[in-house]
Amino acid sequence: MTRPAGSGTPLGGAASRPRKLASAPAAAHRNGKSGESSCIVLAVEEASAATARSFVAATIRSWGLHVDEDVTLLTSEAVTNSVEHADTANVVLTVRHVGGRARVEVQDDDPALPVRMPPDPWRAGGMGVALIQSLSKAWGVEEILGDGKRLWFEVEL
Ligand SMILES: Nc1ncnc2c1ncn2[C@@H]1O[C@H](COP(=O)(O)OP(=O)(O)OP(=O)(O)O)[C@@H](O)[C@H]1O
Ligand SMILES: [Mg+2]
Repeated sequence: MTRPAGSGTPLGGAASRPRKLASAPAAAHRNGKSGESSCIVLAVEEASAATARSFVAATIRSWGLHVDEDVTLLTSEAVTNSVEHADTANVVLTVRHVGGRARVEVQDDDPALPVRMPPDPWRAGGMGVALIQSLSKAWGVEEILGDGKRLWFEVEL
């Protein structure tokens, strides 16, 4: 799929601002409403990491919450990994408000799973998955049968 540089396409819409896909009945939380989520389809290009960071930050702000830099850093690492390493037509980014956490999901079409590299200060790469593991409250990878995988992580809001 070819898209203009730096563009991201929200699922089912033309604008690139966060779009609420689903709202749970108001489960009251200290900050914002749990159950909200936003989703965007990103092109397989370097600029998508910046688009993803902006999208996640704007989504969390739209919940009336502070954006911690960890959530944008880890989003950047996960989206960059899909762009650099996955054989995929696009990258689907979803941000969910789950309890007191933001859950970020990055989905691509490639069944190959991310590899947690052993620590090595002399190696040029191999930091992205380690950062996701270290700085998130929880993370994982779900295989999507016949359709790639979804890496997810959660951070406190
Ligand atoms: N979305 C993905 N699809 C397929 N393979 C992946 C994906 N993400 C990561 N990998 C694999 O896992 C390895 C480790 O990823 P990680 O992000 O830790 O390091 P890196 O991307 O190689 O380097 P760095 O993130 O430090 O620039 C990658 O080298 C790649 O082989
Ligand atoms: Mg990486």
